Amino acid sequence: MKFLIANWKMAPETPKQAISLAKATSTIARTSKKHVQMIVCASYVHLSTLRNTTKTLALGAQDVASTTTIASTGKVSAPMLKGLGVTYCIVGHSETRANGDTNEVVKEKINRLLESKLTPILCVGEKERDEHGWYLSTIKDQIESAFFGIAKPSLKRFVIAYEPVWAIGAQATREATPTECQEMILFIRKIIADLYDEKVAKTIPVLYGGSVGEENARAFVTDGDASGLLVGRVSLDPKRFAKIAQRIVQQ
Ligand code: PGA
Repeated sequence: MKFLIANWKMAPETPKQAISLAKATSTIARTSKKHVQMIVCASYVHLSTLRNTTKTLALGAQDVASTTTIASTGKVSAPMLKGLGVTYCIVGHSETRANGDTNEVVKEKINRLLESKLTPILCVGEKERDEHGWYLSTIKDQIESAFFGIAKPSLKRFVIAYEPVWAIGAQATREATPTECQEMILFIRKIIADLYDEKVAKTIPVLYGGSVGEENARAFVTDGDASGLLVGRVSLDPKRFAKIAQRIVQQ
C-alpha cells in the first residue's frame, strides 16, 4: 500500500470548485484503493464541504495551532479538526516553516495532533545542498526535534515526507533524483532507528514530495524507495493526478 497525499495548498478559490475537485479525486481514490491510501490535505475553509461531499477521501489539514489557548484569533485547534472528521495534518511544510515555524513550534503542533489522535504528516527538507553534506544535519535536527519525548506507540500514527525545499513549487530548480530520494529516505530511517529501533524505522512511512508529476512518480516509489508521494500542484489537475495514482501501483 502506497500513500498518495494531495496538498491543495491555497486552492481552489471557491467551494464549488473544491466540490468538483473532491469528486474527481474521490473517483481516483476509489479506482486505486486496493493499492493506494489517498489523503487530501485541503485548506481549513474547504474541510467541512469536503467531508459532506465524499466519504471516500481521508482528509488532512495543512496546519494546526500549536497552543490550546482559546485566545488564538485566526487559529484552528486539533480538536476542531478532529470534530470535522479530519484524520491527518501536515506539519513543518517548508511554506509554513518559511512563515516562522521553528522546529520547536513544529514539535508543539505534533503534540497537539497526537493529543487529539490525529496523524501528523511531518515534512522535513533542506533549503539547499552543500558539497560538505551539512544539509544532512538540518534533516537530523528537524527529525530529532520533532520526535523528542514521543513514545514509541505514538509512532504507529505518523507519516514523514522528505521534501527538499529546492524541489518544491513553482520556484523549484528541479525535482530530486530517485537516487537522492533513496539516500535521504535511508538516512531518515537510520535517524529513526537510532532514536527508537530498526523495526519502527522500517515500518514508518517515509514519502517523497517536490515537483512530482506523472512522468517521475513511479521512479520515486521504485528506485527511490518512497512509501508514497506528497503532491502539490499536480494534485489540482485530476487527469494528471489519476496518472500518478496509476503509475505508482503499476507492476
Ligand atoms: P509541488 O509541491 O508538488 O507543487 O512541488 C509539493 C509540496 O509543497 O508539498
